[in-house]
Amino acid sequence: MLKNMFSLKGKTTLITGGNQGIGKCIARYLADAGSDIVIFDLNDATKTAENIAEEFQVRAAAYICDVTNPTMIKECMNAAVKKMGGLDCLFNNAGISIHGDTIEAKPEDWLAVVNVNLNGIYHVAQAFGRYLITNGKKGTIVNTASMSASIVNIPQIQPSYNASKAGVVHLTKSLAVEWADKGVRVNCISPGYMKTEMTARETKELRDLWISKIPFGRMGEPDELAGAVIYLLSDASTYTSGLDMIVDGCYTVV
Ligand SMILES: NC(=O)c1ccc[n+]([C@@H]2O[C@H](COP(=O)([O-])OP(=O)(O)OC[C@H]3O[C@@H](n4cnc5c(N)ncnc54)[C@H](O)[C@@H]3O)[C@@H](O)[C@H]2O)c1
Repeated sequence: MLKNMFSLKGKTTLITGGNQGIGKCIARYLADAGSDIVIFDLNDATKTAENIAEEFQVRAAAYICDVTNPTMIKECMNAAVKKMGGLDCLFNNAGISIHGDTIEAKPEDWLAVVNVNLNGIYHVAQAFGRYLITNGKKGTIVNTASMSASIVNIPQIQPSYNASKAGVVHLTKSLAVEWADKGVRVNCISPGYMKTEMTARETKELRDLWISKIPFGRMGEPDELAGAVIYLLSDASTYTSGLDMIVDGCYTVV
């Protein structure tokens, strides 16, 4: 019973930002749960898709797609639907961060972050929701927000990131209600500090400072988000929509 409840067999999941970090890691777990995989990324994820297909014996495809570009999203989604025969689940995950003092920040930096993190999530969710609803299909969406939606990280200054992620949480709730009677569930995960390429860019000094503030005393592995994403995408969560699942080693609890 448990295996069936969490199974994604017979489903196809679209993952944005799946060429590295959290997206790439979770794509492997979704394939292990039985799902065929489609990756949209700014970079070519063909190799990643090929490796997943071989390791988990599923079908996998990759498209170079900028989530800030609605036309490109539509074209890539049409191509993916044609190739895979349909889409069922979306892990809407691509995101970026730029740190900087507000007094000094350039308007382009604010726009770049909000454009990927909030507008990108919206554009992909809209195209996916349109596809499901116009085809009378049910489906599930998990957006990647962040604990930065609920707290202000220190010492780095990142208001565009924090505000964009707070937007993702409320967009998640808004779409969950809008599509509640359409059989489309929309939830989000809010990771704490995770070990990915995004955080590896920072100095060891900064990462050690973060760790000193995390009750678990360590950063999270991206693998530790897999259970949450599988739960929210699968039939294990059929009465759950609009949830922000915080997975942060207790950072936001204290
Ligand atoms: N790493 C963390 O500590 C952490 C914590 C909380 C939330 N998050 C969120 O998790 C998500 C993934 O983060 P990560 O740490 O894996 O980052 P990452 O930088 O390692 O990977 C991000 C991926 O998204 C892709 N991408 C970036 N802009 C894109 C665009 N415009 N269109 C398509 N693809 C694009 C990149 O090419 C890359 O493959 C992001 O939304 C991030 O904000 C990360």
